[in-house]
Amino acid sequence: MKATVAHLPHRSLRYFESGGGREVVLLHAFPLSADQWLPQLHRVPPGFRFIAPDLRGFRGMGAAYEDPGLAAGLSIEDYAQDAIALAAHLELDRFIVCGLSMGGYVAFALQRLAPNRVAGLILSNTRAGADSADGRAGRDRMIALAGQEGPEAIAREMVPRLLGETTRREQPDLADAVRRLVVVNSVDGIVTALGALRDRPDSTPGLGTIACPTLVITGDEDAIIPVSEAETMQRGIPNASLVVLPQVGHLSNLEAPSAWSLALEAGLNAM
Ligand code: MLT
Repeated sequence: MKATVAHLPHRSLRYFESGGGREVVLLHAFPLSADQWLPQLHRVPPGFRFIAPDLRGFRGMGAAYEDPGLAAGLSIEDYAQDAIALAAHLELDRFIVCGLSMGGYVAFALQRLAPNRVAGLILSNTRAGADSADGRAGRDRMIALAGQEGPEAIAREMVPRLLGETTRREQPDLADAVRRLVVVNSVDGIVTALGALRDRPDSTPGLGTIACPTLVITGDEDAIIPVSEAETMQRGIPNASLVVLPQVGHLSNLEAPSAWSLALEAGLNAM
């Protein structure tokens, strides 16, 4: 596995890369970074090449990332455009897109913007719908909290809900590992993403037009996005299958890396 900084026309972007063969672009959840995919990057199935970028403003802040490109009004489509620009930089033609939670929202946007580039979709612990009015108000509260108290407060608020009940009980160290992934992010990166999450469009009307093979993966202890949302996506997308992992929460690829990777591998081999 190697980490690289790609110098795209509009900004620099860090990504991990591992394996060789058909390309799978892995898009991480909020408020983590490409580090979320380390378990999968260490077990890439034969015949596949995993590419995992940081979404704009996550982790990759600092001297090597001179233009983070963060601005109020940045949208989920902008994150998708970054992934498309990375794919162009790497000279990828068609590729599989795998997104978990916020990464799934970005995957929907990418699929809308460049349907011919998407050879398959993996949608994990995500939903097609937009935020409800309550959800949008919650984003505004989180924006205020991030501004006042910083990433530590966001971690304090979110980490317990990101992990399933069984994981919290049986893998107590994972909460701290996730907290460490969250707190290295900048306030600007978090606040910008919260605005994009709050204002993202409803992807439900387009589900029926998704022509590529799709695998939906979730966990039955996901406290952020219920299993019913995964079922809605599977029913709405013409060629989709669903795997529900038992005793697993929202960060399913970290909570149950072996089971999640097995589901992924079976899905990829069918695409
Ligand atoms: C995520 O895991 O990316 C977020 O929890 C998604 C969301 O809050 O809608």
